[in-house]
Amino acid sequence: MKAILFMDMDLRKTIDKIKDTRTIAPDELKMLLECTDNADLEYLYGKAREVADGIFHKDVYLRGLIEFTNYCKNDCYYCGIRCSNRKAERYRLSEDEIMKCCDTGAMLGFKTFVLQGGEDPFFNDDKICDIVRKIKEKYPKHAVTLSIGEKSYESYKRFFDAGADRYLLRHETANEEHYAKLHPSSLSGANRKQCLRNLKEIGYQVGCGIMVGTPFQTVGNIYEDILFMQELQPHMIGIGPFIAHKDTPFKDEPDGSVKDTLVLLALLRLLFPKVLLPATTALGTADATGREKGILAGANVIMPNLSPVNVRGKYLLYDGKICTGEEAAECNECMKRRIGSVGYHVADSRGDHPDMQVV
Ligand code: 5AD
Ligand code: FES
Repeated sequence: MKAILFMDMDLRKTIDKIKDTRTIAPDELKMLLECTDNADLEYLYGKAREVADGIFHKDVYLRGLIEFTNYCKNDCYYCGIRCSNRKAERYRLSEDEIMKCCDTGAMLGFKTFVLQGGEDPFFNDDKICDIVRKIKEKYPKHAVTLSIGEKSYESYKRFFDAGADRYLLRHETANEEHYAKLHPSSLSGANRKQCLRNLKEIGYQVGCGIMVGTPFQTVGNIYEDILFMQELQPHMIGIGPFIAHKDTPFKDEPDGSVKDTLVLLALLRLLFPKVLLPATTALGTADATGREKGILAGANVIMPNLSPVNVRGKYLLYDGKICTGEEAAECNECMKRRIGSVGYHVADSRGDHPDMQVV
């Protein structure tokens, strides 16, 4: 009994130390990921909330997600829209359809549009620039985020010059050997990281991130992810549990844990106080109230779906994805309610990183 009490104190001291120094050691990460005591976990989440609330004052930012193509030339082993999945029903939105999504989003009060898609050669640089320009012409005060994978420095620069503000590109894992176990040899962890450095250099607000609980992932890998993030200093970090997709090579692999995801969200909040941290759709899929739990563990961004309902069921990166039947307005109302239910509220600013405020 005494020993347990001593351990608890130890853990809480460690949490305080991580908060104060914004650093973590490998054994501390291991200890926290192994922690199953609810009171201790609540202590961690509480500290993360303290940090988030001190900066964001219980604001949660909504980003309207437009999944504009599920064609992809890549073949990532975990992903439902990988090119080898012949069962995926492919679609592309037209420019008009994309603009309609933005109109809906603007009407609902979203200040950011996230254009996400597979790596689809049909949408060449000219087309992407055209779309970005059109959106920014109509909505100059809104932010445009791109999430369309690995491109050359020149392409990223062209999108930025066309008006794109932010770019999401999860690094997936910072460890090259682990990266090679999740991707075919045509893709490399080194190039992935270089893309992120390029994006940052160009001037984007940049988001990296990982899946929690991917096959072969070790605590050591996650530690390397943290080191990479400390080097990159991203503005956003997207993490969510790995969820198996039935038509991929990882179909029989176990899903990532919700608890581990929450622990990592909280740790990332302590390590990167100002970072924009989404409670992801995957987290909401793995647990019916996962996104609310994410907010209570330090997350401050939610990305409701703005894609037209007729294509939503086709953008399936993993099984069981939520919100595939709801209209954008329904998701918006639902999210507002959920955010309110845990004592937070939807912000009406653009939600730029505190160090990247656009005046
Ligand atoms: N489970 C959870 N997340 C996934 N992603 C892709 N496939 C899955 C899956 N099976 C994540 C990847 C990618 C992001 C858009 O979605 O991290 O970068
Ligand atoms: Fe889409 Fe709740 S957010 S239904």
